Amino acid sequence: MRILFLDQSGKPGGAELCLIDIAKPYGDRALVGLFADGPFKDLLQQNNIPVEVIATQAIQVRKESSLLQGLKSLGQLAPLITKVVKIAREYDLIYANTQKALVVGALASFFSRRPLVYHLHDILSKEHFSQTNLRIAINLANHFASLVIANSQASKTAFVQAGGRPDIIEVVYNGFDPKNYKNDESEINKLQQQLGLQRKFVVGHFSRLAPWKGQHILIDALAKCPPEVTAILVGDALFGEQDYAQQLHQKVAELGLENRVKFLGFRSDIPQLMAACDLVAHTSTSAEPFGRVIVEAMLCAKPVVAAKAGGVMELVEHGFNGFLVTPGEPQELAQVIITCLQETEITATIASNARTSASQRFDMTAINNYIAKLLVSKFNSN
Ligand code: UDP
Ligand code: GLC
Repeated sequence: MRILFLDQSGKPGGAELCLIDIAKPYGDRALVGLFADGPFKDLLQQNNIPVEVIATQAIQVRKESSLLQGLKSLGQLAPLITKVVKIAREYDLIYANTQKALVVGALASFFSRRPLVYHLHDILSKEHFSQTNLRIAINLANHFASLVIANSQASKTAFVQAGGRPDIIEVVYNGFDPKNYKNDESEINKLQQQLGLQRKFVVGHFSRLAPWKGQHILIDALAKCPPEVTAILVGDALFGEQDYAQQLHQKVAELGLENRVKFLGFRSDIPQLMAACDLVAHTSTSAEPFGRVIVEAMLCAKPVVAAKAGGVMELVEHGFNGFLVTPGEPQELAQVIITCLQETEITATIASNARTSASQRFDMTAINNYIAKLLVSKFNSN
């Protein structure tokens, strides 16, 4: 099967990293059409996935856009849709990986008569999106998609609650290759040395810098922990959240934590950095649709503490393979950090349970096979 994948982003967020793993097995039978140039294109090329930047002008719709803004942007989209219709004729199926890709993909699917699959990486609720954006996404999916793949039960539930058709949606978790998360101890020691992390209790936070990812909660929690507890914040402001990044630096200075918080920016050596930590914290203040970083930490056999909302509750069972805390509560987070610092044996057992269960539940080969089966069945029934 030949697949035209569409994604609006030039930057590698979680949805884009997931797309790499899904598109890779198709080799030359896939093309990823991007609506923006950037490092995501380079990553696709490094993985030998055919890629083309098909729109260079940014599409002006934001998560909170009004109907008028939405309609204006539809006009801008016409040339892009025409282009996608032409390309789609060479492929059997259109696979939209983001919301703007859904808008373009839905119309292109109609004009090119190719089935549409929508991979839903978001919780479609008012917490995350404007009413207009929600309505557009649900209506387009309901009318044009043969299949919606939800990245968690939480994303599926929100889709159905917002009026999405329950008969077209399937939950498929992100897949991971456990091989990528095996680390060499001497390499990790070297990394710890380079970053000045030896003899510290290191809490890692791995996420783009954005207010709802809640890096500020970890900083507040750190201020309530003993001085040997240090944090590394890995990730950059990918989608224009520079103000938040600045606020975080300011907060660190105000709390006098300059020696205990390191900002490492965007990194490509996530498994190694996770291995250099004693605990990985996930602190989203709004419901996380899935949370790749949680599974990655589990595969590195690191204990995880995560904010209890959305897809996270499908990944973490408190006290068995990780710890859950109330979102937005630094005091509770600090308490778990201190427990992990003190109760090393229980914590090690929890981390080991996490590795075993995550390697079974999120195995990339099995998940890719399942997606292939779903695509073939939808393609044949079309
Ligand atoms: N990530 C990365 N480099 C960084 C920070 C994060 O490669 O500096 C990766 C991280 O390993 C994960 C993804 O970005 O695979 C983020 O996905 P997640 O689902 O956790 O959150 P999202 O950003 O998609 O909401
Ligand atoms: C999105 C979500 C994140 C999820 C990722 C992969 O970026 O915000 O929670 O893990 O997609 O599905």
